[in-house]
Amino acid sequence: MSPELPIRPGIALTPFQEGDQHHLVLYLNDQQVQENTANIPTPYTHKDADEWLAHVQQMFLERGAHFELAIRHEQHGLIGGIGCFMRTGLEGHRDEIGYWLAAPFRGQGIMPAAVSAYCQWLFSMRPNLARIEAKVYTHNEASCRVLEKNGFQKEGLMRKATKKNDRLIDTWLWAKIR
Ligand SMILES: CC(C)(COP(=O)(O)OP(=O)(O)OC[C@H]1O[C@@H](n2cnc3c(N)ncnc32)[C@H](O)[C@@H]1OP(=O)(O)O)[C@@H](O)C(=O)NCCC(=O)NCCS
Repeated sequence: MSPELPIRPGIALTPFQEGDQHHLVLYLNDQQVQENTANIPTPYTHKDADEWLAHVQQMFLERGAHFELAIRHEQHGLIGGIGCFMRTGLEGHRDEIGYWLAAPFRGQGIMPAAVSAYCQWLFSMRPNLARIEAKVYTHNEASCRVLEKNGFQKEGLMRKATKKNDRLIDTWLWAKIR
C-alpha cells in the first residue's frame, strides 16, 4: 500500500523512491538536521541515501505498507521526511515519530501540516495505537512549536537522555493521545 497524503496544495506525503538520493544528500548535510536528529549519518553520503532507500523498501516488504514517508513538493521534489519506529508487541500501543524539513522550506508551516496528516493517518492505520511520542532536544524550539501546534503535550524532561558527539543532551518528551 502506498499512501499519498495531501498536506497542502502541491505538497504531499508519499513513499520514498529511486531518484531521491540527490535531494537526500543535498538537504541532509545541514547543520540543523545534524544538531537536532539522532539517527541521520554525518556527513550524509550517496551511499547513506542508497542504504536508506534499500531499508525503506525492506520495511515495506515486511510491513506491507510504507510508514517512512517523503514530504514531496510537486515542483521541487523531495523536501523532507517523516516516519515512526513501528513498535510492536508489548509496546504496540505507543510509537515515536521523527521528522526533518529541507532548509529552504522552513518557516512556512509545512512541518506542522505534515505532522498533522501523518499522525491522523498513523492512528487510522493502527487501531491499537494509543499514543504518539516525540523526543526533542531542549535547544530545538522550532520542533517544540511544531508539536505544540499539533496538540502534543510536553510530558517531561529527560535529563541527559541523548548522547551526541560525547555530549549528554536534555530532551523533552512530548506525546499526543488518540
Ligand atoms: C523543526 C522543523 C521540523 C520545523 O519545521 P517548519 O516547517 O519550519 O516549522 P514552522 O514553519 O512551523 O516553523 C517553526 C515554528 O517555530 C518557531 N521557531 C523557529 N525557530 C525558533 C526559535 N529559534 N525559537 C523559538 N521558536 C522558533 C517559528 O516561529 C514557528 O512558530 P510560529 O508558527 O508559531 O511562528 C525544521 O526546522 C527542521 O526540519 N529542522 C531540522 C531537523 C529537526 O529539527 N527535526 C526535528 C527533530 S525533533
